[in-house]
Amino acid sequence: MVKTSKNSGPSDKPLENDTNANDIWGGRFDGGPAEIMLKINASIDFDRRLFAQDINASKAHAIMLASTGIISQNDSDDIVMGLDTIFKEIKKGEFNFSQKLEDIHMNVESRLGELIGSAAGRLHTARSRNDQVATDLRLWVREEIDKLDDSLKSLQSVLIDRAEDHASTVMPGFTHLQTAQPVTLGHHLLAYVEMLGRDRGRLSDCRDRLNESPLGAAALGGTSFPIDRYMTAKELGFSRPMANSIDAVSDRDFVLEYLSIAAILGVHMSRFAEEIVLWCSVQFSYVHLSDSFSTGSSIMPQKRNPDAAELVRAKVGNIIGALNTLLVVMKGLPLAYSKDMQEDKLPVFTVTDTLNLCLAALIGMVGEMDFDKDRMQADAISGHAMATDLADWFVKDLNMPFRDAHHVTGLLVRLAEEKNVELNQLSLDEMQSISPGITNEIYKALRVTDAVSSRSSFGGTAPKMVLAAVLEARKRYLNI
Ligand code: ARG
Repeated sequence: MVKTSKNSGPSDKPLENDTNANDIWGGRFDGGPAEIMLKINASIDFDRRLFAQDINASKAHAIMLASTGIISQNDSDDIVMGLDTIFKEIKKGEFNFSQKLEDIHMNVESRLGELIGSAAGRLHTARSRNDQVATDLRLWVREEIDKLDDSLKSLQSVLIDRAEDHASTVMPGFTHLQTAQPVTLGHHLLAYVEMLGRDRGRLSDCRDRLNESPLGAAALGGTSFPIDRYMTAKELGFSRPMANSIDAVSDRDFVLEYLSIAAILGVHMSRFAEEIVLWCSVQFSYVHLSDSFSTGSSIMPQKRNPDAAELVRAKVGNIIGALNTLLVVMKGLPLAYSKDMQEDKLPVFTVTDTLNLCLAALIGMVGEMDFDKDRMQADAISGHAMATDLADWFVKDLNMPFRDAHHVTGLLVRLAEEKNVELNQLSLDEMQSISPGITNEIYKALRVTDAVSSRSSFGGTAPKMVLAAVLEARKRYLNI
């Protein structure tokens, strides 16, 4: 029988202090906790985000307890029905979370007692909050990894589409942020597709490794009840139960690994965001960001600021900080569970929210970036970006050793600089004053479109290679 809830109202309303601590801990305690103790101890303000995982894991546990004969089928059925009701209450915002009940596990269990009476007390048989929280968090991170994989795939997809549009758009490639060689914009964008591909690979490795069930490890040493850990593991979609019960409750590698991957992904997002900021500047002017992703200035009417890109760049700082936070929390902890580990959740939640926000912003921006092809191409020619092509011409057409070609080209660059012209603006006479063997053919090597087309080695920047890479990337990353 489901009793009517005395708790109703939105889930974000203030916490009620309606339970005495000694109601929870039983006979061991005479007095309740100090106000400040409640405050420092409670995690319900943030771990309520685990409610769905907590309820699912409890249902799997209750079903297993009945199937192994540890509790009756009736009690198990009542527990499962009560948990389903609680799920709906929380979903509808009709659940009153209590700070005195400390965390999501005890909030759910206490409400279960209100709903189904004494059978609720049997749910915690052969279980501890230590294995419970480890199970919930693994389930939560696993689900978020799957969602992140979808978002990363979407970002790859828009980047691949843009790369296809710009397979032959020429731009300067940079090293040391100095003009290096002309490349194609499509090739540059596909570099990010590869980085994101590795991020997805890392997330998938992390998912495989974390997909073991801590449930049944109990407090740390296992239990004397004849539980079936394989059954709960299977029910929750885990590959197997964790092999060591002490490890099961004390391990937070899976969170650290997730945060490390998030930090690397964050660095990729931030590098891209930084390029967007640079490209939007008046000095570069490679990109026009749509109004939907730009902001104005309250004092300088001419300004169009790439705030979204700047904020992606900045927010990645929080992600890196979160990884550092948890590394520092964990580094001094002896086995097995310590309450310090309760602090693992905030970094995980913050990082996940930040990743989702930044990915959505990047997907939006990439879709609406308007590239100024003429400006990029003009820039690709300036700054003697063709010098390597020139040196290669000496090697190919005049059979010069590359080191000599490099030297001669250096002399030509110096001459062009003295005359304040680009290399292709030097006359044949001027060129021959440096190296008499030079012929008119040299001007062909100085055509920027020929220069990029010639770099057709595997993984190179030539438009035809970029188009092939686009098809390959669609197959490899998008399964199309
Ligand atoms: N709220 C706790 C956490 O997140 C649950 C585990 C508490 N275990 C305990 N032995 N006090 O870590």
